[in-house]
Amino acid sequence: MRKALIAGNWKMNLNLEEAALLVNRLKSIDFDESEKEVIIAPSFVYLPELVKLLKDSRVKIFAQNVHHEKSGAFTGEISIDMLKNIGVSGSIVGHSERRIIFKETDELINKKIKTAVKEKFPIIFCVGETLEQRMADVHEEVVNTQVGLGLEGIDEIDMNHITIAYEPVWAIGTGKTASSSDAEAMHKSIRNFLAKKYNKALADSIRILYGGSVKPENISELMAMENIDGALVGGASLKAESFIKIINY
Ligand code: PGA
Repeated sequence: MRKALIAGNWKMNLNLEEAALLVNRLKSIDFDESEKEVIIAPSFVYLPELVKLLKDSRVKIFAQNVHHEKSGAFTGEISIDMLKNIGVSGSIVGHSERRIIFKETDELINKKIKTAVKEKFPIIFCVGETLEQRMADVHEEVVNTQVGLGLEGIDEIDMNHITIAYEPVWAIGTGKTASSSDAEAMHKSIRNFLAKKYNKALADSIRILYGGSVKPENISELMAMENIDGALVGGASLKAESFIKIINY
């Protein structure tokens, strides 16, 4: 049985006061921890403050990105040790905005995942195709190539630190959600790929989230799909009303 996971990616949004207000609303929500996990990924600069505010809460804090080296001359970067040091529980890696705007390659993403699993640091590993790739009907090949390259050299035993998030680029922040059946088909394809790369038991146990214009109106339909285990939510995670509705789908 895979535990549901609802994660909010706040991206470069909110000021400290707004972030603290939102966290205080999320703190009070009631959900069964044995059935569901809730994560927020705020901006780096608010992490220490928000970790303190969420002390003793069931809501966990992730970073939106992380560097693969332990320390050193990497101006502007943040290491896993630093995040662990302030009580951050994990990180998103390979978000399409990192891949497209900041030119992160599959090779770099693989380095981050390798370091994270070595450090037993949970990762939400994002993959997804562009609209052109979907139109050209190469979306499954593109996404499974991203999965394969990101997980190169990752042993089966270390896969328990990884959650995959399928986020079609054309659905992110556009209001266009993949239909639940299209999302389900991709999740199934990723699971088949993992069954071949590792084995069926692993493929059946790994969580695969859907991301891209998830909102209160479409979460139930998505979550009803056999291979969709949760959601990575951008825009709708910035408002308590909509994020809480999604959490309580
Ligand atoms: P969105 O973003 O929900 O605003 O489409 C999702 C994401 O980028 O993780």
